[in-house]
Amino acid sequence: MFESIFSRQLANPSGLFGRLITARWLEKANVGMNALTLESLALGTNDRLLEIGFGSGYLLEQVLSSRSCDDVAGVDVSQEMVQHVSRRLRRHIENGKAEIRHGDIESIPFGDAEFSALCTVNTLYFWRDAKLALAECQRVLKPNGRLAICFNSKEDLAQWPGHVHGFTLYELADVEEMLVAAGFTGIEKRTGNDKDQGEFYCLTGIAA
Ligand SMILES: C[S@@+](CC[C@H](N)C(=O)[O-])C[C@H]1O[C@@H](n2cnc3c(N)ncnc32)[C@H](O)[C@@H]1O
Repeated sequence: MFESIFSRQLANPSGLFGRLITARWLEKANVGMNALTLESLALGTNDRLLEIGFGSGYLLEQVLSSRSCDDVAGVDVSQEMVQHVSRRLRRHIENGKAEIRHGDIESIPFGDAEFSALCTVNTLYFWRDAKLALAECQRVLKPNGRLAICFNSKEDLAQWPGHVHGFTLYELADVEEMLVAAGFTGIEKRTGNDKDQGEFYCLTGIAA
């Protein structure tokens, strides 16, 4: 029972539970995955970053507070997380350094070629149409823009009983193939492992 509720919360944090429990859990549990993603993107001051599925907003805040990049945007399907992160990043939003929008990776609410970097951490399992999601990532990235996708290994997630409630699990090779099919080149893999998340991967690719 709790597992199915928590699985649904991870896919779309909602209500008081989403704000008080899920967002706090994400903040703590995904530190290692977010760090590997940022290391993979190696952001610079000329970048404009889009994060899809920002959850608690931890990664975006890390980017802004470290001043590694002063121009970020985020999209999330959860209205609760959009409100939460809009409050959390209010100062940066008012200063024109951050933009937060409600939306889905399968229909990204930004124009073509607006970003030089795009990342998404722990969202792949919830995409209904991965081909469409990656086509949308291509569309909003500038030519030679970098994409980073961070996700748990299938072996690890399969051991957690909650995965049966709405998670699609992917082998590393499947995601590599999907990226190539979507037109990304120069695919690189990084691997991480920590006590909260077990084994995880970050795949990067260059947009056409
Ligand atoms: C498991 S949480 C991960 C949050 C954060 N990236 C992290 O790793 O801590 C998944 C987040 O992605 C969002 N999400 C799920 N499916 C999405 C989709 N199709 N498009 C955009 N956001 C999505 C959820 O609302 C949630 O905030």
